[in-house]
Amino acid sequence: MRRFLYRIPEEDLWELLLDKKTPVEVVAREGDLITFATYEPLEGLEPIKEEEVTEDWKSWKESFGPVEVGDLVVLPPWKKVILIKPGMAFGTGLHPSTRICLRALQDTVREGDSVLDVGTGSGILAVASKVLGARRVLAIDVSEEAVRECRENVRLNRVEVECRRGKPEEIDGTFDLVVANLDISVFQEELKHIVRVSKGRLILSGLYGKEDLRRIEDMLKDQGLLVCRIYEEENWFCVGVGDVRS
Ligand SMILES: C[S@@+](CC[C@H](N)C(=O)[O-])C[C@H]1O[C@@H](n2cnc3c(N)ncnc32)[C@H](O)[C@@H]1O
Repeated sequence: MRRFLYRIPEEDLWELLLDKKTPVEVVAREGDLITFATYEPLEGLEPIKEEEVTEDWKSWKESFGPVEVGDLVVLPPWKKVILIKPGMAFGTGLHPSTRICLRALQDTVREGDSVLDVGTGSGILAVASKVLGARRVLAIDVSEEAVRECRENVRLNRVEVECRRGKPEEIDGTFDLVVANLDISVFQEELKHIVRVSKGRLILSGLYGKEDLRRIEDMLKDQGLLVCRIYEEENWFCVGVGDVRS
């Protein structure tokens, strides 16, 4: 697999993201310039560096997809399974904002982490965090129905996750990682509380289009934080803050 490194003025990045619709990995910031990497060449832009990344084992593993026969699904042992019962709460895994969060969690969760899932819905991100190795996971939501469904899905997956009704401002203590798939108007209210309960690593999703991306970046800057990774699917964006592994 090839990795392409680009350096452009930071203010041009958001325009480019919308144009190219490809995930980028922010590598460095120097003054007004941002250096980022992609795994596909970007048309019309000259990379400052191109390098070979050896991930053959990864593509080999990925070629073993699920085999479905009637109600049976056959999976290789390295796949991590999440069961979600369809219900009223948001979070079946079909929506792009959830899917990019699931990708970001795989890059971010470390064995033994404490994780807070804000706006847990069905509990999908809380269960994913646990399946990916988190030690303690707390899932909160303002909706009683979501909390009920989160508890049911936690039972289904036989993991330990505490699900309760609540908002970030009601949370005591701090978490290694906070994941939140909300929307920009909710972030406007909640971001300062989310930052207060985090030890520095954040995954923020539910951002639609360039304007939301700009606004979250500004809100984060006001809190003294910088985006270090951006995920995109169908014009939905998710940002990683803090130490997000590439
Ligand atoms: C887009 S859904 C995300 C569900 C799931 N986490 C996912 O990624 O698919 C957002 C959830 O946040 C909840 N929510 C909205 N405002 C909230 C707040 N201020 N604090 C906690 N939860 C909130 C909603 O009830 C809803 O269940």
